[in-house]
Amino acid sequence: MEIVHGYFSPNGETKKIAQLFYNELGGRFFDLTLPQSRVDYRKVKADLYILSLPVYSQNIPKPLKSFLIHIKAPQVFINLTYGGFSYGNVLRKIKKRLLVSKIVGYTVTPVKHSFIDQHIDIDISLYDSVLKKLKTRDYHEVRIPFRFHNIFTPLFEKARVRSNFKLIVDKDLCDHCNLCINECPSGSITHSIKILDSCISCNHCVQVCPRHAITSKKSKFLDYYLKKKQKTSVVVR
Ligand SMILES: Cc1cc2nc3c(=O)[nH]c(=O)nc-3n(C[C@H](O)[C@H](O)[C@H](O)COP(=O)(O)O)c2cc1C
Repeated sequence: MEIVHGYFSPNGETKKIAQLFYNELGGRFFDLTLPQSRVDYRKVKADLYILSLPVYSQNIPKPLKSFLIHIKAPQVFINLTYGGFSYGNVLRKIKKRLLVSKIVGYTVTPVKHSFIDQHIDIDISLYDSVLKKLKTRDYHEVRIPFRFHNIFTPLFEKARVRSNFKLIVDKDLCDHCNLCINECPSGSITHSIKILDSCISCNHCVQVCPRHAITSKKSKFLDYYLKKKQKTSVVVR
């Protein structure tokens, strides 16, 4: 049986879970974070696809939305990560985009939020039961329950993120090492370090710049929101 693992992980938390599943189950391991990889790995065939991705604004991260319809595996297992606030109905949204696949299980794990300076340990023993099922192929299609969520969240998603989170470039500090350009998951940074409208506000460029030439500014509202208590429980199905 051909198992393929594909993950999108601008800041590395989702990758930790994807890596764990790969180490336990074997197969082929694909990083879907960079734009070119989502073109290169579009036609990959698998019997079971282990898809690992984060929640962005209670939604699927934009660069992955168009990728999902290309997954041709008959069976998909999802590892969803989120910042411990809300993951809305993302699992249902993923299911809608997987045209031919059955979802045979999922995990939802709160991880370090890309906007917060924090460390969260993931208790990997919580995945033992699903890993056992996947190893012994003892799985069937699962139902994705509807979750109550804020119906206004999908409206003006981009504008809302932009008004709450801004990137600031100090060109005098930049020494054109190109790290931010090469590692941007949406290919949104030009050679003159201009941030394009396609930016997904993942904050990776801020993390990666060795000279702190890119910084971010959060609105008061976002600062307040990020102080809310984060959930810690992992969902395994
Ligand atoms: C633009 C953006 C939007 C986010 N929206 C949410 C959200 O709606 N709810 C939540 O709990 N976490 C949210 N997060 C936190 C991410 O889900 C979390 O940081 C992510 O799982 C980290 O994945 P990575 O380290 O693999 O990139 C958001 C993060 C970013 C960058």
